[in-house]
Amino acid sequence: MTEGRERPRFLDLESLERRARDALDPMAWAYFSGGAERERLLEENVAAWERFRLYPRVLVDVSSVRSATSVLGAPVSLPVVVGPTALQRLAHPEGELATVRGAAAAGAAMVLSSLATCDLDEVAAAAGGAVLHMQVYVLKDRARTAEMVQRAAAAGYRALVFTVDIPVSGLRTREVEHGVRLPDHLGLPNVADPDSARHGWGFVEHVVREFDPALSLDDIAWLGGLSHLPVVVKGLCRADDALRCAEAGAAAVVVSNHGGRQLDDAPASAEVLREVADAVGGRMEVYVDGGIRRAADVVKALALGADAVLLGRPVLWALATGGAEGVMELLENFRSELERIMALCGARQPSEIEPSMVGRIGERPGERP
Ligand code: LAC
Repeated sequence: MTEGRERPRFLDLESLERRARDALDPMAWAYFSGGAERERLLEENVAAWERFRLYPRVLVDVSSVRSATSVLGAPVSLPVVVGPTALQRLAHPEGELATVRGAAAAGAAMVLSSLATCDLDEVAAAAGGAVLHMQVYVLKDRARTAEMVQRAAAAGYRALVFTVDIPVSGLRTREVEHGVRLPDHLGLPNVADPDSARHGWGFVEHVVREFDPALSLDDIAWLGGLSHLPVVVKGLCRADDALRCAEAGAAAVVVSNHGGRQLDDAPASAEVLREVADAVGGRMEVYVDGGIRRAADVVKALALGADAVLLGRPVLWALATGGAEGVMELLENFRSELERIMALCGARQPSEIEPSMVGRIGERPGERP
């Protein structure tokens, strides 16, 4: 009996990726899809989630399941946050303005890259109340960083996401081969257009030269002192680093290897998440990105101790093929599939997704290595 019943929504990110590849010009595709060196970690990030199984609870009343949660105290419709990918007008003419409209329509939070191709004030104006965080690369010209942070605070952004895993560029072979550069018709309005962005080869190779490689824990307090915004530290894989960030005043950390675009021999995020969350969970929020392609990956991440996941490339694929509508549909499909998997696991809300619901193949569920 099907009439009158909505067709199930489900994620098919493999076909979405293929359609995005066909839609994008080769340079844009090289930039978005590329990883570092052999691109081992690019694939390992996705494969690592498959090494975990879910152990559902049964005989739980799941007549009402909701994926709604909060991110640093702000309500969101699901624990899937749009991650800070750069240069989104390479994917769609409206770029980050379309992405934020799609995120807002789905009730999702979004982190805006400081290397966005749309002005942070314009993105805030288009956000329609969506929860916005501002990603920050600390530049050698710290005054420029301070100016951007203070603009973001004034525009209603609710946190700073301090990316710390790119003191130098990863070896981006595809970017160099394709001569990835910022096209003349695009700019980086939030960091005052570095000329380096328009170099003939390797966008990141050159832009990163504007970044300050002399970072320290003190920079968490420095950023925190520039505005009232809490500081999230993004780009770590070690429990001891996460603890140091907690002690230095970070409000949250993101377990991340920059989508496999920096250190190709780093571990997949799924492999280290539980250890980081066990070290700092409860003292601050823990997010994770890297290879999230299914709603089951989100449940595994939360069972391993994350409070939310960040989504990178799939949002770009949705943007490239469907603009704001495409981004909204992607997030809606994630939410619909997530509530289904949560019901099958016996979790009526994200806080009921518990460590015993996940186990690495060959281990007992919830077992600590
Ligand atoms: C990247 C940096 C700019 O493209 O985030 O990976």
